[in-house]
Amino acid sequence: MAELRLEQLSAATAAAANSLTLKPGQEQFVQPTTYAQAESDVKLSSAWTRVVLDGDEVVGMIIGTFDADNSEEELRSAIWRVNVAASAQGRGVGRFAVHGLAEEARSRGFERLTVVYEPGGDDSPEAFFRAIGFEVLRETQYGDHFAVLTLG
Ligand SMILES: CC(C)(COP(=O)(O)OP(=O)(O)OC[C@H]1O[C@@H](n2cnc3c(N)ncnc32)[C@H](O)[C@@H]1OP(=O)(O)O)[C@@H](O)C(=O)NCCC(=O)NCCS
Repeated sequence: MAELRLEQLSAATAAAANSLTLKPGQEQFVQPTTYAQAESDVKLSSAWTRVVLDGDEVVGMIIGTFDADNSEEELRSAIWRVNVAASAQGRGVGRFAVHGLAEEARSRGFERLTVVYEPGGDDSPEAFFRAIGFEVLRETQYGDHFAVLTLG
């Protein structure tokens, strides 16, 4: 794998980012119910969207949302989406993307980065978020996990 890098989503990478092929069974975890319900509350202008490039190839994408005054604590400094192509999973791409977003959160003065995900089963991103340091704080009303990465 060449050195990974994050780039702002552009016309050149948008199609590839939108058509990343996940592993069978993972699709249902891309958008947890808690986020689906909150979709209208997210200001698109506050989204931070990046693709992960390995050489010229788009291997992943991440969307963060920053909105310090949001009444929902899930939406103040959060991972909104993170997807890694099936063929590139298990090689540190997801970790790299989340670290990039964590760095952005820190530079904006946030002390934590949060995520909501649907737990359970091999296809859930639960083990991933735990492996990279997220701690579960509570369940949402839809049974999703609300987890936090403390930014040192
Ligand atoms: C979750 C996802 C982003 C992980 O990406 P990835 O590039 O495969 O993850 P990484 O290679 O960076 O893994 C980082 C750590 O998590 C662990 N991990 C990742 N997926 C795992 C899994 N399914 N089971 C167990 N551990 C896992 C890795 O072993 C690694 O830990 P280590 O460093 O201690 O060995 C990817 O599987 C994905 O796109 N899933 C579908 C979309 C999704 O669910 N997104 C989250 C929505 S909230």
